[in-house]
Amino acid sequence: MSNKINSFEEYLSEYKKSVEDPESFWASKAEDFEWMKPWDKVLEWNFKEPKIEWFINGKLNITQNCLDRHLHSRGDQVAILWEPNDPKDNAISFTYSELYEQVCKTANMLKNNGAKKGDRICIYMPMIPELAIAVLACARIGAIHSVVFAGFSAKALADRIQDCDCNIVLTSDGAYRGAKSIALKKIVDDSLVTCPMIDTVIVLKRTGEPVTMEEGRDVWWHDEMKECSSDCTPTEMDAEDELFILYTSGSTGKPKGVVHTTGGYMVYTEYSFKNVFQYNEGDIYWCTADIGWITGHSYIIYGPLLSGATTLMFEGVPTWPDAGRFWDIVEKHNVNIFYTAPTAIRALQACGDEFVNGRDMNSLRVLGTVGEPINEEAWTWYNEKVGNKNCPIVDTWWQTETGGILISPLAGHTPLKPSYATLPLPGVQPLLVDNEGKEIEGNGVEGNLCMKFPWPSIIRTTYGDHERCRQTYFSTYENLYFTGDGCKRDENGLYRITGRVDDVINVSGHRLGTAEIEDAIDEYDNVVETAVVGYPHAIKGQGVYAYVICHSPDVDHDLMRQEILSKVTEIIGPIAKPDKIQFVTGLPKTRSGKIMRRILRKIAEGETDKLGDITTLLDPSVVEEIKSGALSN
Ligand code: WTA
Repeated sequence: MSNKINSFEEYLSEYKKSVEDPESFWASKAEDFEWMKPWDKVLEWNFKEPKIEWFINGKLNITQNCLDRHLHSRGDQVAILWEPNDPKDNAISFTYSELYEQVCKTANMLKNNGAKKGDRICIYMPMIPELAIAVLACARIGAIHSVVFAGFSAKALADRIQDCDCNIVLTSDGAYRGAKSIALKKIVDDSLVTCPMIDTVIVLKRTGEPVTMEEGRDVWWHDEMKECSSDCTPTEMDAEDELFILYTSGSTGKPKGVVHTTGGYMVYTEYSFKNVFQYNEGDIYWCTADIGWITGHSYIIYGPLLSGATTLMFEGVPTWPDAGRFWDIVEKHNVNIFYTAPTAIRALQACGDEFVNGRDMNSLRVLGTVGEPINEEAWTWYNEKVGNKNCPIVDTWWQTETGGILISPLAGHTPLKPSYATLPLPGVQPLLVDNEGKEIEGNGVEGNLCMKFPWPSIIRTTYGDHERCRQTYFSTYENLYFTGDGCKRDENGLYRITGRVDDVINVSGHRLGTAEIEDAIDEYDNVVETAVVGYPHAIKGQGVYAYVICHSPDVDHDLMRQEILSKVTEIIGPIAKPDKIQFVTGLPKTRSGKIMRRILRKIAEGETDKLGDITTLLDPSVVEEIKSGALSN
């Protein structure tokens, strides 16, 4: 496989080249793809506006590179291997030829329903093959996909549809999730009450449950596909044409639509996929993420398919029918590379070793994690019980905004250190700064993690609001991309991500803004004000701790807790539900009215003796009250 690094020495020399001459470095990677027209210039950038352009004036279609390019050499190889929710149902596979046909047909179905280049298409679907096919079908015709995780509520879905002004929604009647089935179409119907911009809803039959079809708006997927041809010429896209929008939470306000473009994203996801995981021809690769998150976009769909890999997609959950489901799938499909999140590892570890023992997992060669820092205990269990001490663990650090993995070992080459993401990939130039933006040099140090040079899949803008992109990522420190993460660099120069330094929390690997949850709770009538912080949680990594002031303090607190939970579920989705709600009569505020979250965080962490200076508070006595009512961990 070309451009694959084969040793640590080679990594070091590639890294050196990538920093000394980034343009030639990335041009040499991009040459492996099919371009309809070559680029004129590799890179133009400034982090001030910001303006970042890769492969300027290059023309291409990413699906031509995911599919058509492989037809000759690997048409009969499995591209997508799908394992359904219920282990009693059969797995289904699509070869590259079959996937190509399905994508072309679906692309034609979208066209027949009025979709054009540049349109935004919202995809709200379960983890079934048609979800991946729909994503690629959008890319085939140059429509911009905006996948919304199917666990989000009607309100959250409506916000996302409105923000990028979608005209089509792709969904299914329902979704299976373990023992449950979820009425997805009903959620779409509820959200569309406030989304007049949607002309068409295309509904796939998955669960067969009854749904309401609105005349003139809703059509059945299988009807629409009937007459579609399996020829669809890929639409010519500029390298900087938008490929997709994916919403993610930040410190303030509503989730932002992170925009990724075509050429750079293609080059980087392929390069990072095959190097981090050291994919070999014929390997079965399985990433357990949902396609509703960036990990699913980059490392279930694009990276693997661009590399000609076999990518496994799983519809179900890790604990149904029992906590051995992941390992059954590894055994059944002889999975070689397995990529999951620390929260899943901790949850399965807590269920007991008997679910891992007894399964033949000798096929495994590489293990990966993503989404949050992995604690040493989980790392050790993963290494010993799942990997049989035989598989390198790649702890991959990256973000929705980075498009691809930036800091990670290359499996089998980079020396490992538990809970360290270790070293930057070629082309990635991290640096640590103090709170004033001054670079912290040397090793054995800690600071705020920034990047000083663009890589091809860096965020280009936040949809419809470029200023927000500038402010959030490029204004904290001059001429740097700021990640929002804290980071240590050890004596040997290895990086360890310590977690967010802003008001973003990471609950079971799901990124949530504390402000977003506060806003949802504040919607509840009896609430005056709320402050939300994260606290350490044994399985979820972080839990959600909400301090709530109500209008009438003598209400039934248990009832109110229940109602707050339903409010959050209604506005965001079940993933954002607070784990703990403490009712208080006041919040610690400075004289200028700012909530001192540092204090609330310490109390939530149970470190009430380490509150630091509280004399600057408007009313220091509230702290005593909050401390005495704190909910224990
Ligand atoms: C965190 C997920 C430690 C981090 C791909 C980052 C991690 C945020 C790791 C992005 C890791 C992700 N070690 N922390 N290996 N990977 N994070 O946008 O705080 O959902 O900023 O992207 O997850 O979350 P997002």
